[in-house]
Amino acid sequence: MTAEHAAAGRQWRSPGEAYTRALGEALGRVLRAGDVVALVGELGAGKTTFAQGVARGLGVSGYVASPTFTLVREYRGRVGLYHVDLFRIGPEDLGGIGFDELLDSGAAVVVEWADRAPERMPRDCLWVYIHGTGSEVRSLQVTACGPHSRQLLDLWEEEAERAGVGS
Ligand SMILES: Nc1ncnc2c1ncn2[C@@H]1O[C@H](COP(=O)(O)OP(=O)(O)OP(=O)(O)O)[C@@H](O)[C@H]1O
Ligand SMILES: [Mg+2]
Repeated sequence: MTAEHAAAGRQWRSPGEAYTRALGEALGRVLRAGDVVALVGELGAGKTTFAQGVARGLGVSGYVASPTFTLVREYRGRVGLYHVDLFRIGPEDLGGIGFDELLDSGAAVVVEWADRAPERMPRDCLWVYIHGTGSEVRSLQVTACGPHSRQLLDLWEEEAERAGVGS
């Protein structure tokens, strides 16, 4: 694997909900049409909290609810946003929610529990692993798996620094 094709990564420490949301918001401000963000973490790790920040950064107005029961929610921001939750569905059910169509729709897509169907995620997407639950300090471990998501990670890091998070 050459340096050009190697995965790039970054780790952030998040001491609280507001911080996780602010990191998401910084990502949302630089997210582009077609970008896919895969969120992984235990129950209550902060995936929805992070996704709410992303939506806010994209300019989505109003409350962004957890899609645990609806599976997919669609929002309008600077670009369209699909917020997907795979907790209740297996890879065999993805056709039923038109998952591949969502990925190809030109909207940005944020997927909670993406590790439930890793083989269905695009090769070049940004993986965000949130470690910790309850009152624990969270660790956000980010891996960019291709050139497109690596560029996105660079933009995100710059934006987070500008916003005073993630230094
Ligand atoms: N550093 C932190 N970052 C994010 N959330 C935190 C943090 N510290 C505490 N919390 C709390 O953890 C909870 C995270 O809930 P959230 O719904 O975002 O998790 P989730 O990963 O989406 O869970 P689920 O798997 O049920 O969808 C919230 O109650 C939040 O207040
Ligand atoms: Mg959630």
